[in-house]
Amino acid sequence: MFDRLLAPFRRASASAPAGRTGDSPSARPEAPADGTGAAGAPAAAVEPRTVAPDRLAEAFAEAHGAPPAGVWHAPGRVNLMGEHTDYNDGLVLPMALPWGVMLALTPTDDGAVEVRSAQRPGEDVRFTTADLDARSPVTGWASYVAGVFWAAREAGHLPPGAGARIVLDSDLPIGAALSSSAALECAVLLALADAHGLDLAADRPAMAAIARRAENAYVGAPTGILDQSASLRCTEGHALFLDCRTGLGGNVPFGLKESGLRLLIMDTKVEHQLKDSTSGYAVRRDECERAAAALGVPALRDVEDLNTALPRLDDPVLADRVRHVVTEIHRVNAAVGLMRAGAVGDIGALFTASHLSMRDQFEISTPELDLAVETAVAAGARGARMTGGGFGGSAIALVPDDRLAEVERAVADAFAARGWTLPDQRVALPSPGARRLR
Ligand code: GLA
Repeated sequence: MFDRLLAPFRRASASAPAGRTGDSPSARPEAPADGTGAAGAPAAAVEPRTVAPDRLAEAFAEAHGAPPAGVWHAPGRVNLMGEHTDYNDGLVLPMALPWGVMLALTPTDDGAVEVRSAQRPGEDVRFTTADLDARSPVTGWASYVAGVFWAAREAGHLPPGAGARIVLDSDLPIGAALSSSAALECAVLLALADAHGLDLAADRPAMAAIARRAENAYVGAPTGILDQSASLRCTEGHALFLDCRTGLGGNVPFGLKESGLRLLIMDTKVEHQLKDSTSGYAVRRDECERAAAALGVPALRDVEDLNTALPRLDDPVLADRVRHVVTEIHRVNAAVGLMRAGAVGDIGALFTASHLSMRDQFEISTPELDLAVETAVAAGARGARMTGGGFGGSAIALVPDDRLAEVERAVADAFAARGWTLPDQRVALPSPGARRLR
């Protein structure tokens, strides 16, 4: 069943020909097995097939002998502006993707949790909620699931004995900086809250905080609140304008279609990961905290004037980090202003300015992300930037309808000319946040 569900979306094995030559051991496997984006061929903006809820329910029934209580979906995201601003108490502007994690669940009252994933055939995971412990966590992919049960229990929301049978599937690439882990956490939490009738189900900001705690304290990734908020709080056709200090947020219309524009997502297939405390992500976080301490402010959000703040920092690297965070927060406000004014195309220039800031001041870009951005802009995009945590993953470009094919082709050609794995290119509209499907 899972093979049938996922066949059009599975990537070829890592030994497939035409992978990245040489320089990047972390490059992910080559193009999807259906041949879209195969090396040397012109890229196509493929809307990947989404997983069908009825078929996931069938897979659940096959595994457990009865249909699930329900099926839920939580999306991945791209962040349009405001990178590495969330843990600096700043502003962010994500939109939900049409792709994400779909999950069939039936609640149980024996505290046992059983999880199957279409991505991990034969690796079913079982645990009991009473045994969960952040000091000796369930490891691997299932840690995101166990972490949610743990965090919900720690926050006092999970009644003793609340367990679940879960079957899940995903059409989000892993390691592409499109928030596959947050989508998993949020799908589990929403389904759990709904199926067990928890009050939490009506409080999306509180759910985002619990899902983030699962990732920070259980999985051990020192991330901010961006991804979980995007998955749970975005609405269709909109971007979420979120103040990460107060948790207050609202959805702003993101009229791509009306403006004759497409949002192109270019997954460079260089895997980014945030998990360990020595990762580039954790180092940036630490640098920001040190800079805020040196400047005597609670968070970099509170730096008002770069001209007076920067000369007070002895370390030029910290000064660069501060410049990025402060200007990036202003770019979020500017982007929201342009969206509200219906001038969506003008956000493109902000995209490109943001990318340069991430490349030069925050130093989280890669040669692949830079190439995708530069090529897209040169081929007619209104602007482009890397999105998410950086050090690999995806870039986004704002492209006029009539330039889309040209931009995609130019990006594919530029990667092919370097002998690099071709990016996976997709267009996406702002999609609904996490929800129950049946
Ligand atoms: C990752 C983290 C987020 C955020 C972004 C960068 O996606 O999970 O919390 O910090 O990187 O904006």
